[in-house]
Amino acid sequence: MSIIMQYMITLNQIKTPVAKELKNFESFFRKATKSDIRILNIIVNYVIRTRGKQIRPLFVFLAAKMHGEINHNTYLAATTIELLHSASLIHDDVVDDSYERRGYFSINALWKNKISVLLGDFLLAKGLLIATEGKAYEILDISSKAVKEMIEGELLQYEKSRKLDIDEETYIEIIRKKTASLFATSIAVGVNSVNPDPDLISRMYEIGILAGLAFQIRDDIFDYQRKDKIGKPTGNDIKEKKITLPLIHVLNNSTPGEKRKILNIVKRKNLRKDKVQELINLVNEKNGIEYSIKKMNQFCNEALEKLSAFPQNEASLAMAQLIQYIIERKK
Ligand code: IPE
Ligand code: IPE
Ligand code: MG
Ligand code: MG
Repeated sequence: MSIIMQYMITLNQIKTPVAKELKNFESFFRKATKSDIRILNIIVNYVIRTRGKQIRPLFVFLAAKMHGEINHNTYLAATTIELLHSASLIHDDVVDDSYERRGYFSINALWKNKISVLLGDFLLAKGLLIATEGKAYEILDISSKAVKEMIEGELLQYEKSRKLDIDEETYIEIIRKKTASLFATSIAVGVNSVNPDPDLISRMYEIGILAGLAFQIRDDIFDYQRKDKIGKPTGNDIKEKKITLPLIHVLNNSTPGEKRKILNIVKRKNLRKDKVQELINLVNEKNGIEYSIKKMNQFCNEALEKLSAFPQNEASLAMAQLIQYIIERKK
């Protein structure tokens, strides 16, 4: 399989082999989030209207189709995953004090933190309940582990943002936990719904980890590209004292004096816009973006290589395109 594709393929094109399933999935998701509480339904409708790219359910369906026939459990798995993802974003915007998501106001911007915490909890509980009610206990088991890891990742990130003593290895550990684990889990539950072979699942899981690492590095690069229209604020990571790969690279290539100066800026309370811009400029001058792109490409290529060890079919081809899309995407 060719590792480098010639042209940028759209997400809709990649979705084609499972377009019907993704359409059916919408009603699963809608049903799963229904409640008797009026305010909950109002907010859930907003979440549904402002839905994202749905990359994770796409991974679930492609992974299942790659190794068997999509069935009821595949739908349960996709619903669980997207509910956990939605919950994590709603909580994440509270934690990051962020007021924009998917080009719209975030839940905390419109309904404040209290409601956001409760809504996130509701979606998380529903995500796990869907699997329980369907007696899909392995899906429940794998998904619960991802929830645990995502929270650990966010907390490790928080710890590092207080001490500012992050290195590249710790950064990778953070993004593996907070982001890659859910990508890997999406693939694992998809495979599990058609073939419970643990060896197969764990080989496919690794592909998801690599794709997820590339995905988060792409996201962290976006944060340094202020002019991009990605539907959420940029420059927010520095403001939140999150030191990500582009800045880690700069720190690793600075004199002790320069390093102290950078960390003093990051440390400052109520960081001013021009100071954030100063760091963004520095990252660009010192090749922080270039280096991050190189790392991202490495993870992407490793994922594609592992994927190419499996027999090729329509679904595996689409998954390869999806992994390529992760690094080329514009939002
Ligand atoms: C955003 O994920 C959260 C990160 C892991 C960076 P997505 O970019 O997949 O979010 P939506 O669902 O498409 O908005
Ligand atoms: C990813 O981290 C969030 C989760 C894994 C929940 P970010 O904080 O970078 O995500 P965005 O940029 O807000 O989407
Ligand atoms: Mg965030
Ligand atoms: Mg981000």
